[in-house]
Amino acid sequence: MSNPPSIGRFISFEGTEGVGKTTAIEQLCVRLQAAGIDCLRTREPGGSPFAERLRKILLDPATDINDDTELLLMFAARCDHMQQVILPALQRGSWVICDRFTDSTIAYQGFARAHGDSVALTKIESLIEQFIPQLPELTLWLDLPVLEGMARAGKRSAADRFEQQATDFFNRVYAGFSALAAEHPERIQRIDASGTADEVSARIWQVVTTQFEMTNSQ
Ligand SMILES: Nc1ncnc2c1ncn2[C@@H]1O[C@H](COP(=O)(O)OP(=O)(O)OP(=O)(O)O)[C@@H](O)[C@H]1O
Ligand SMILES: [Mg+2]
Repeated sequence: MSNPPSIGRFISFEGTEGVGKTTAIEQLCVRLQAAGIDCLRTREPGGSPFAERLRKILLDPATDINDDTELLLMFAARCDHMQQVILPALQRGSWVICDRFTDSTIAYQGFARAHGDSVALTKIESLIEQFIPQLPELTLWLDLPVLEGMARAGKRSAADRFEQQATDFFNRVYAGFSALAAEHPERIQRIDASGTADEVSARIWQVVTTQFEMTNSQ
């Protein structure tokens, strides 16, 4: 790809529903900013004006589409997000902290929707290879039992199109993240997401400062 080399860091957060991704990202960005690091918080699906329009469609319980259409819309959103937001931010030296990225597509569309079918997984791998020029250099997988995450998320408002799925669906999502972490130990770090938000945030900071060789006083 012809994109200039990035100088910022690209980190994604992954995990099943309600495990604390958004909360942990907020806390990480506060710590990064306190360390003098420019930090862009973003999310998927969405993150750019056009991708946010697709997000509304993808999460709307009234949207009735087949699995391939869902997959392609996820990638259309990601492609726009990547080109419009992520790459420009990295190129100007900002760190990009993304709430879900390609691993969520593999876990949700590959492992959960398609039950880990090898043809579906190959399609996703091929879309990543063709359209996503840069993967996160660090992915933090917030690991919490599915039902505990759902109990945390259950404190909130009406379920979206994914949240309406049965527990079995999320067990397959979990199995997807677990398989991905085993497959990519160089990129994906498992974070114990139990305990308070402050405890989880401290675990994450430990991993980030170690990985990027920052001193803890930063
Ligand atoms: N460590 C924690 N312990 C208890 N509650 C938490 C913890 N972290 C976050 N929460 C609360 O749990 C709920 C879900 O957290 P959050 O929205 O951060 O999760 P999420 O993984 O981003 O969810 P989603 O998958 O729906 O986007 C929120 O009400 C949040 O305040
Ligand atoms: Mg969230």
